[in-house]
This record gives sequence, C-alpha cells and structure tokens, in this order.
Amino acid sequence: MIYIGCDHGGYQLKLELMKYLDSNGFTYTDMGCNGEAVDYPDIAEAVCRKVIESEENKGILLCGTGIGISMAANKIKGIRAALCADWFSAKYTRLHNDANVICMGGRTTGAGSATEMLDVFLHTEFEGGRHAVRINKIKKLED
Ligand code: RB5
Repeated sequence: MIYIGCDHGGYQLKLELMKYLDSNGFTYTDMGCNGEAVDYPDIAEAVCRKVIESEENKGILLCGTGIGISMAANKIKGIRAALCADWFSAKYTRLHNDANVICMGGRTTGAGSATEMLDVFLHTEFEGGRHAVRINKIKKLED
C-alpha cells in the first residue's frame, strides 16, 4: 500500500501526484491535509506509522521544501525517507538506500519533475548485497 500526505505547502503537488497514481492504477491512502494549514510533523507521523506496518509499504510526503517533513519522517524507527529533487536521486535511493518514503517540495519542484521522480521511485527495487550491509548499519543507529 502507498500512503501519501502533505502540509499546505505540498498540497497542490499532492493533487498532481494523486493524478499520476490514479491514472497508473496504484492503490493508495491519502492521509491529508486537504489544503488547510497543518503542522508537517503530524502528517509525517500519520503516514510513517502506516508505512512501517509492512515492508511492502511506501510513503510519499510533501511540504513546502520537503525538508521539514523529511526530518520528521526520519525520526520514526524503520523509516528511510529520502528528500529528492532529481530523477537520479529518486532512482538510487531505492537501489542503494532502500528508501521507503520519498519526500518532495511543493514550492521547489514542478509537477512534471515530481511525477517522473515518483514513477522511478515506485518502479525500482532495492539492490541488496553490499547495500544491505549499510542499511543494517543504519538500523543499528536506531537502537
Ligand atoms: C510551511 O509554511 C513550511 O514551513 C513547510 O511546508 C515546509 O517547507 C517545512 O520544511
């Protein structure tokens, strides 16, 4: 399952990304907001608590810059949230970091670029191998 959430700074971009998800047959749950002013840590928590329920889950988080919401997301054990602003990073954060949440900025990233980043993020599998060793070291930092 995919969980998507935003604050007011990411709301317009969320609408665009939900159009992509709808037209590409993805099942997802929208965890808010609906354009009203909210505090991005609350949205990060709502999405990430769902994401960590299954290793198959992915999250999409959007705020004005993507920075605050990614900071909040990465405080939650089991979350590897990647703030992305380019296609290469969106691809390699799946290949090498096994990121389970992608974060983007609604005031910094256009809809076309964001949609391409989301597409590659959702279609790229973790490579494992030497990268799994590194992810396990990240997991140790959580304890
Ligand atoms: C909200 O105005 C803004 O601070 C937020 O969307 C985000 O950019 C924080 O990192």
